[in-house]
Amino acid sequence: MKGKILKILKAEQGVVSGEAISSELGISRVSVWKHLQKLQEFGYNIDASPMGYRLISSPDVLFPWEFPDRERKIHFFPEVTSTMDIARDFARKGCPHFTVVVAGCQNRGRGRLKRTWLSSQGGLYFTTILRPQISPVLSLRVNFAASLILAQTLNNMFDINARVKWPNDILVDGRKISGILSEIEAEADIVSFINVGIGININNDPTDSEPKAVSLKQLSGSEISRKRLLSDFLDNFEKCINSKALDNIIQEWKKYTVTLNRYVKIVTHHEVLEGIAVDLDENGALILELADGSTKKVLYGDCFHK
Ligand code: BTN
Repeated sequence: MKGKILKILKAEQGVVSGEAISSELGISRVSVWKHLQKLQEFGYNIDASPMGYRLISSPDVLFPWEFPDRERKIHFFPEVTSTMDIARDFARKGCPHFTVVVAGCQNRGRGRLKRTWLSSQGGLYFTTILRPQISPVLSLRVNFAASLILAQTLNNMFDINARVKWPNDILVDGRKISGILSEIEAEADIVSFINVGIGININNDPTDSEPKAVSLKQLSGSEISRKRLLSDFLDNFEKCINSKALDNIIQEWKKYTVTLNRYVKIVTHHEVLEGIAVDLDENGALILELADGSTKKVLYGDCFHK
């Protein structure tokens, strides 16, 4: 209902009487008033006068009603342990394809290889639950799609040159602006769900413990709308996931990467490898040329550009 009330206020751009809202939505004037009070508590600047209500400004909040086309599939929590935890529960309980779990902050945000992902207010933290009808082998492509689409969305919205680093980081001028973590469950040969968790430094200031990180606010010098970025990214990502684009994603991703043709160190749970990153295979494994001239494929790991 709050979304519908906001829609009326936004469309009108002037004062709208409580009576007009109540008859358009078929609810009582008291109920309209209660919803408006709640919206004011959430930070919406709504002027109330004897003539009616006028929306002066909206805060950068991520409540489902801010995403009218996908309202039923967005779940916002002001604070969670990790959106990955909530998303896994939702997925196991059968939530639909492209359900999104968003958090204002996380107190146990997770990064790849069991690292912590610091998740203070101002950043964007969300996990998208996907149910593509593909085999687990092809599931890595979904992560490459996520990082590529996010880099392209950032470049379209802002005056920056976002690039992808293997496997799924997004860098701007060598500094990390976003990281992606995914979890998959499969039955037999078909994926049950792939949860793609994305953290983006937006209006938060990365701490001294993350010297190679940067936020969009630091790059642009002003506050950025998380709402708009999330909305644009989800639209672009959904189009890609539901289309044939996934077949070509590795080729496309390679055009945006800063990892290929350079000397890298790869750290996995059980080994450290160094060599030249010469290519990616069709599923996104990195092909390294080692010092002795042999090549080796690496499926996962941390990559350090040297
Ligand atoms: C990495 O670069 O190591 C991956 C970071 C992924 C962070 C995101 S924030 C939303 C989702 N919830 C988490 O706990 N982690 C991912």
